[in-house]
Amino acid sequence: MKRNVVTTTPFDDQKPGTSGLRKKVAVFQAANYLENFVQAVFDTIFDTAAAPPGSTLVLGGDGRYFNREAIQVILRMAAANGFGKVLVGQGGILSTPAASCVIRKYGCYGGIILSASHNPGGPEGDFGIKYNTGNGGPAPEKITAAIYARSRVLASYRIVEAPAVALDSIGSQSLGEMCVEVIDPVADYAELMESLFDFDVIRNLIGSGFRLCFDAMHAVTGPYAREILERRLGAAPGTVINGVPLPDFGQGHPDPNLTYAHQLVAIMYGADAASTPDFGAASDGDGDRNMILGRGFFVTPSDSLAVIAANAALVPGYASGLAGIARSMPTSAAADRVAEKLGVPCYETPTGWKFFGNLMDAGKVTLCGEESFGTGSSHVREKDGLWAVLFWLNILAKRRLSVEQIVSRHWAEFGRNIYSRHDYEALPADVAAGVMAQVRGRFAELPGCRLGDYRVKFCDDFSYVDPIDGSLSTGQGLRVGFEDGSRIVFRISGTGTEGATLRIYLEAIEPDPARHQVDAQQALAGLIEIAQDLAQLKQRTGREQPTVIT
Ligand code: G1P
Ligand code: ZN
Repeated sequence: MKRNVVTTTPFDDQKPGTSGLRKKVAVFQAANYLENFVQAVFDTIFDTAAAPPGSTLVLGGDGRYFNREAIQVILRMAAANGFGKVLVGQGGILSTPAASCVIRKYGCYGGIILSASHNPGGPEGDFGIKYNTGNGGPAPEKITAAIYARSRVLASYRIVEAPAVALDSIGSQSLGEMCVEVIDPVADYAELMESLFDFDVIRNLIGSGFRLCFDAMHAVTGPYAREILERRLGAAPGTVINGVPLPDFGQGHPDPNLTYAHQLVAIMYGADAASTPDFGAASDGDGDRNMILGRGFFVTPSDSLAVIAANAALVPGYASGLAGIARSMPTSAAADRVAEKLGVPCYETPTGWKFFGNLMDAGKVTLCGEESFGTGSSHVREKDGLWAVLFWLNILAKRRLSVEQIVSRHWAEFGRNIYSRHDYEALPADVAAGVMAQVRGRFAELPGCRLGDYRVKFCDDFSYVDPIDGSLSTGQGLRVGFEDGSRIVFRISGTGTEGATLRIYLEAIEPDPARHQVDAQQALAGLIEIAQDLAQLKQRTGREQPTVIT
């Protein structure tokens, strides 16, 4: 087999963010663009990280447009770069949590995941590539920095000349001296789920007439949900909707929230309660996010983490107790109250899953969550959508209450952290920076001041020292905390692709059960007004309303 060394010139925009390199499909299709980045990853693996030749790599993606083509290129480059073996998901498919599971289970050197998460796909949409290390989690910053540095100087890449690898049949084939093993993308993940959750008790719940609906949004979780929910747990065929992964996600936006999962929302808020399922859930493009719904009832991701933690003893994989809980700073403090009751530590980290990895590797936390529809545990090193769905089903099967009853009783016990996020998308960068500067400018005078019904306790620019490696992350969001525990947080998104996205996170503490059923936006009206005023939002953005409210 012929090994080629192809001359190339560097691109200057291949800096991987926390979720890898994400660009428009057309950018990835440009000559040498994908190849350059993959060579930078491989050089980092073998040169910087000194991986032994013959190492094993995991490879798969969320099935979006360009997935198959990219997989063929990466396989031929892996063969030319000295990998011994690549485990690739059948059809090129692996959800992000499943890839993490496979890397860990087989002790692989690392993995490459092809996805742009919840961003739309198709020829006009986005594509992405991310490198995960041997712990199954996203590469830490020192590795992504090395990849980027390498991408700026490389002059050639290595690739073998070979016919396309057959991706659709399970089994081993050779590609030069490398072995390509096409694996069932679902089996290892499903087995891990069976080891964590009580499938018998969930099967009994479903057998008793409990009805559920899972919206795979034409993204990667379709095959996983069908195998686990319909085949192993006995849910009726058709429980999984939009279950066939499509290269353009059926022209949808595969992000599980009340706006984009509108088909599921319409089903769960149906006029006829008798025909509305008891439980609804959705997951995103690559299967790591989740949304949980009851009949006519939305569970905020912050509450979901708290409920999961409070009920963990009911779930076999977690019955022996939690080491600790971690949540991102803007996520509501509902989980903190549960941690306090359980007598375990609760960590407050900057936004982004990577901060949880160190804590999990060190055995300090078992459960993690973010307000942005991300929940997970130390079973893998990524957030995990279907895992959260199964956790809820296990709780529902044990407690035999409705989703709404479980959440209401949780609030009655712990108090309710009423929560909402207001996003101002696609702002000019200087306008967003101006808003932040405006808020920061008020910090000195605010502590002790009365604003509306609230008295300011503290304000700061959140920074975090990683308790494991001592690294410092600064500028992670502006916090205004009030005496009763209520909060307003201002933060600029790190993942927006158009202009700057300003996120305002609002949280009000409501201890009184008589007021727990209120509408969140109404209950937060006072804080919304304070945020408007503090940041001079209307004047500075020229907008009357946020773009998206979750
Ligand atoms: C967003 C979410 C954050 C999540 C990240 C990757 O980042 O807010 O919680 O970890 O996507 O899924 P942001 O755009 O806010 O920087
Ligand atoms: Zn995702």
